[in-house]
Amino acid sequence: MSYPYQIKSLEAYKEAYKKSVDDPEAFWGAIAENFLWRKKWDKVLNWNFKEPKIEWFAGGKLNITENCIDRHLATMGDKPAIIWEPNNPEERVRTVTYNRLHKRVCQFAQVLINNGVKKGDRVCIYMGMIPELAYAVLGCARIGAIHSVIFGGFSAQSIADRLEDAKAAFIVTCDGAYRGAKDIPLKSVIDDALVGNKTVKRVIVYTRTRTPVAMLKGRDVWWEDEMEHAETQIEKDGVVSFPAVEMDAEDPLFILYTSGSTGKPKGVVHTIGGYMVWTNYTFVNIFQYQPGQVHFCTADIGWITGHSYIVYGPLSAGATSLMFEGIPTYPDAGRFWDITDKHKVDILYTAPTAIRSLMGFGADPLKGKNLSSLKVLGTVGEPINEEAWHWYDENIGRKRSPIVDTWWQTETGGTLISNLAGVTPAIPSWATLPMPGVQPILVDEQGKEVTEKDEHGIIKGNLCIKAPWPGILRTTYGDHERCRTNYFATYENLYFTGDGALKDANGNYRITGRVDDVLNVSGHRIGTAEVENAINMHTGVVESAVVGYPHDIKGQGIYAYVICSQHESEEQTRKDILQTVTRVIGAIAKPDKIQFVSGLPKTRSGKIMRRVLRKIAEGEMQNLGDTSTLLDPGVVDEIKNGRV
Ligand code: PRX
Repeated sequence: MSYPYQIKSLEAYKEAYKKSVDDPEAFWGAIAENFLWRKKWDKVLNWNFKEPKIEWFAGGKLNITENCIDRHLATMGDKPAIIWEPNNPEERVRTVTYNRLHKRVCQFAQVLINNGVKKGDRVCIYMGMIPELAYAVLGCARIGAIHSVIFGGFSAQSIADRLEDAKAAFIVTCDGAYRGAKDIPLKSVIDDALVGNKTVKRVIVYTRTRTPVAMLKGRDVWWEDEMEHAETQIEKDGVVSFPAVEMDAEDPLFILYTSGSTGKPKGVVHTIGGYMVWTNYTFVNIFQYQPGQVHFCTADIGWITGHSYIVYGPLSAGATSLMFEGIPTYPDAGRFWDITDKHKVDILYTAPTAIRSLMGFGADPLKGKNLSSLKVLGTVGEPINEEAWHWYDENIGRKRSPIVDTWWQTETGGTLISNLAGVTPAIPSWATLPMPGVQPILVDEQGKEVTEKDEHGIIKGNLCIKAPWPGILRTTYGDHERCRTNYFATYENLYFTGDGALKDANGNYRITGRVDDVLNVSGHRIGTAEVENAINMHTGVVESAVVGYPHDIKGQGIYAYVICSQHESEEQTRKDILQTVTRVIGAIAKPDKIQFVSGLPKTRSGKIMRRVLRKIAEGEMQNLGDTSTLLDPGVVDEIKNGRV
């Protein structure tokens, strides 16, 4: 495959950027020509941010799986699409060629049809990182069903909420999943999530861990049986085929739930045409992918990074995507480097939290590792501190592999701000330049563009985007108004990211972190309100307030201030609260620190002064700012003295 739209020089970047802003329709229309459309679009772009209404390639007809699979078969059918590295390094690696991927996706599409799934139906996928997860996702896309992948770390309660919100009648899961030394009983979590559920008609269960599971007659079926049956249906005269369903460019492709400032995660909706063009374009340009290279994105497909840069971006580019089932520290902290050498990985894309954690193990895990196949390194998910950046550069990239710092969000579908590997300059801890089509602007609280520079020529403000790019979210599932108020109403005619940023005199951006009540813990997005709701479910808790604080490995840790009605044993209550949070959200949202307090700093109107709590959690006891509006200033001293 060739990529005529791959940018090869700084000059070419500047030219592409200018074109994309001057005439977005001509620019993206030309790029979209490189894909397989059943019918060409009528109009490249329609938009207003007021409603918001955003349409890319309206009237265009396509199926994304024909772009990710079928169109590669003639020339690359025997090339690996997915290389799967199991949790246990002793277990057999699986190499899934494009031909094999085609067969499995067609088969699974037939399985979905056989089980009553129709175009537009929502299918929840709760699986470990195995190739079958990719088959499930692509099988949905092939028949036009909307997939909603739920990360394996979420609890039964979280799944139940998502099933209800998505009104999903179908689930695909596994008996269990391996993660390091643990196996996680996924099917039994699903069973718990389904207690009282009346909408789910079918659960398809793949056998991975051979953990005993209960199968409910009439509802639960085995993946293996279903696939076997489907195989005979779709194979005729030695030819395997399941015709891809023709979809509109603006039909939904998937829903992915993500946390915001409110207590309830929202279902971000991406549509087919724009998302496909955006993930492909950003993948090819940022990583400077060359045919034949092995791309290793360490994310889980339960998050947007896995959707965009394990599945859709790489596969639409005919790339080889390495999928890893396990964790970076199992069986030891050299696992990423072993995988890199074993599969001659060219591109490694991971999160700062993983880099910091591996950095903590020192030089030993790197002994004897070659790493000479690496050509490009990437980071995503949270700001990367300079120390981690340099460690990555020196020890992993050996100072010869450019690092791309890719800034983006679940809502943006793919990367908005990043350097292009070896093409545009990298600056440690800066995401640097916007991708073509992305028009950032820094505004103050009132929405006015910030223009004042500090003594170093730097501008600081809230990061917004002025115009749509093809991968922007279209709505939040079942509640368009929520999409409008969350992203398009804070500032008129702007998409608000929720992040703060700096901009230097050369137009480079540095993301400083969230400016709303969203935490970023080990690259996982968690709303403070969600954690508070979970803590408050513990019967002994009267009220709680949750803030983030700097954490060496996780980036941010979770600090909870809790008022209890009675707590005979603080230790027991603490344990119970942790258990409650694990039950309600999942272990990823467990507070790192819990401080029991008798009151919270509130204004006369009853609003919690989070600024004060944040400062105390950060250990900054002196400059708490103006506390004169507090109802009971005495409570602040008590909290300061009791800091944990
Ligand atoms: O705060 C930013 C941070 O992660 C948030 C988005 O989280 P999520 O939707 O879970 O997607 C993560 C993977 C794309 C952003 O609002 N973030 C993401 N990438 C970076 C980042 N912060 C700084 N630098 C990055 N490269």
